[in-house]
Amino acid sequence: MQAIEVENLKKYYGKIRAVDGISLSIGQGEVFALLGPNGAGKTTTIEIIEGLRLPDSGIVNVLGLDVIRQPRQVKSRIGIQLQNTALFQRLTVAEVLELFRTFYPGQTRNSRELIDLVDLGEKKDTQSRELSGGQRQRLSVALALVNYPEIVFLDEPTTGLDPQARRSLWDTIRQIQKSGASVLLTTHYMEEAQELCDRVAIIDSGTVIAMDTPGNLIQQNFNETIIEFNTAGSRPLDGIFHGLAGLTRPEMVKDHHVTLYTANTVATLGSLMNLSERGEIHFDTLNVRVATLEDVFLKLTGKTIRD
Ligand SMILES: Nc1ncnc2c1ncn2[C@@H]1O[C@H](COP(=O)(O)OP(=O)(O)OP(=O)(O)O)[C@@H](O)[C@H]1O
Ligand SMILES: [Mg+2]
Repeated sequence: MQAIEVENLKKYYGKIRAVDGISLSIGQGEVFALLGPNGAGKTTTIEIIEGLRLPDSGIVNVLGLDVIRQPRQVKSRIGIQLQNTALFQRLTVAEVLELFRTFYPGQTRNSRELIDLVDLGEKKDTQSRELSGGQRQRLSVALALVNYPEIVFLDEPTTGLDPQARRSLWDTIRQIQKSGASVLLTTHYMEEAQELCDRVAIIDSGTVIAMDTPGNLIQQNFNETIIEFNTAGSRPLDGIFHGLAGLTRPEMVKDHHVTLYTANTVATLGSLMNLSERGEIHFDTLNVRVATLEDVFLKLTGKTIRD
């Protein structure tokens, strides 16, 4: 049995096709991300799967249960992190967690374990109204873990977190996965999705435009190396790189930032050096790298790199 199965999901708001025929299937123990530009339909999709919004049509099965018909049975077995939880302002972190534990009839994690999972030890006796934005965010993640959920839903869990807190949340997500639970998350950080997720779906205008492991998506879209550099000076660069050895597709020139894709890094670098020696270009910085999920995202959602 899959943890989540969604078939041909649709949700329109008047003329806006927020979700326009999404199908996906997420396995048990899988960490899966919905990626996509603002307004792509990620939150709408997640909230329908959580049973918080009703779709116009489509099938949504969560842990083998029909979410639309049996929302209560589903809710006790999942954990939901809400973006703007009203967190009982005058209760301390520990008190909020204790309160949430009483909401669940079954087994719950004790508040010390929850506090450890999201690194809020120093703030356990602080009232939630006195927490910083990132700390409040971490508390909302802890609240999603109270009932040993079999699936955890995290909608942009790391937005607004400092780099350390973000990495610490990655560890928390890996721990959730180790415990056997599935995680469905959204993020605008492609490096995070690449690092954490078994598979991702890229969504644009309410439809899935690509779905696979980050590694496969990169391989399918870029089997070449990326050479990037800045050029000094104001000479027009258009055409200079035409016919350069090894290039696999047209170069991208934006202001003085050049991106080249090559199937033969050494040959391309050699020709670039020749151009440089002849004084036709001057390198400012030069960076040779493999493609990332961010490159795939930008390519598939139609935004040029560095736009
Ligand atoms: N309750 C609503 N009423 C009307 N339109 C809505 C409603 N909720 C969402 N929409 C519209 O549906 C589309 C998808 O919104 P959604 O919140 O799912 O996007 P998202 O992918 O989560 O974007 P973001 O990355 O900005 O969070 C948007 O065009 C949005 O304006
Ligand atoms: Mg959203």
